[in-house]
Amino acid sequence: QMNVFLFYLFTHFIFLNGEEEVFPSSRSRSAYIAASYVKFLEAAGARVAPVRINLSPEEYKTLFSSINGILFPGGAASIYSSGYQRAAQFFFEAAIEANKGGDYFPVWGTCLGFEQMMYLTSGQRILSRTNTTGIALPLNFTNEANVSRMFRPFPLELMEALSSEPLTENSHMWSLALSTYNSNDDLRKFYKVLSTNTDGQTEFVSTVEAYDYPIYGTQWHPEKNPFEWRKAYYPHSPSAVRMSFYMAEFFVSEARKNFHRFESVEKEREALIYNYSPVYTDESIPFEQIYYFE
Ligand SMILES: *[C@@H]1O[C@H](CO)[C@@H](O)[C@H](O)[C@H]1NC(C)=O
Ligand SMILES: *[C@@H]1O[C@H](CO)[C@@H](O)[C@H](O)[C@H]1NC(C)=O
Ligand SMILES: *[C@@H]1O[C@H](CO)[C@@H](O)[C@H](O)[C@H]1NC(C)=O
Repeated sequence: QMNVFLFYLFTHFIFLNGEEEVFPSSRSRSAYIAASYVKFLEAAGARVAPVRINLSPEEYKTLFSSINGILFPGGAASIYSSGYQRAAQFFFEAAIEANKGGDYFPVWGTCLGFEQMMYLTSGQRILSRTNTTGIALPLNFTNEANVSRMFRPFPLELMEALSSEPLTENSHMWSLALSTYNSNDDLRKFYKVLSTNTDGQTEFVSTVEAYDYPIYGTQWHPEKNPFEWRKAYYPHSPSAVRMSFYMAEFFVSEARKNFHRFESVEKEREALIYNYSPVYTDESIPFEQIYYFE
């Protein structure tokens, strides 16, 4: 009987490298996970454990067979060459292989994680600069949204709120332009676009799900609404908070579909995030609480 739902998140470096997303300004500690990602998954019934960057392929392989899904969080790291990229690539490829063999293993990318998936799928540097570093937007749903795996469970009134109220928070300098998606066969064949947004100049892809795999991405931040308060543009309305829960509930329900587990209770205990304590940060950092690992 399966009663353990574990999600690992990557820790990664917050140093500037020319391809960064919004990052905490404190440079003194370098590997972190914003606690909002952890709470987001816990609220929907998952237990979380962090995935460290720069582990060996053998260690990642063991982790892969121990956990039920993976979330690539937002943050600041190179999606082309970094510990974040190498770990994400390992899990992304392992998930595709597993799913091909009938082992249902879901992957979720948020913000930088979304961008990372676009690079892993296309193998090309195809992102465009957009003016979207701190703004909440309504989703412009495509005709695919209503019949998507992700949004099908959403109540109609929530879909209406999502499409008319600014409930999705964007903190990114790079985006996948819709025109780029439309002209890239690798991306077009792999991902179904569920929503788009625009910065007034460039229409970009904001939500995707893969056609053939349980792989999902949002350029926006579903985890911020209930848990982050540092910016005036973080949405906190009842619909904004409900939406966040529905996204997490969807992803966790996907992760209940496989039977990965730790070798032992001891290994599981060692891996869980409960071994770490989140820190209430100072106001220079855009997250209320952070788990630091280094
Ligand atoms: C970026 O968007 C904001 C609104 O979100 C707007 O106030 C600002 O003028 C825009 N900046 C540029 C350079 O277009
Ligand atoms: C919504 O997306 C459609 C299809 O890409 C586009 O034609 C339309 O301009 C978009 N609307 C808004 C408000 O962004
Ligand atoms: C989705 O379904 C609802 C309810 O049937 C409808 O009002 C809405 O227009 C549909 N949206 C899209 C993008 O097809």
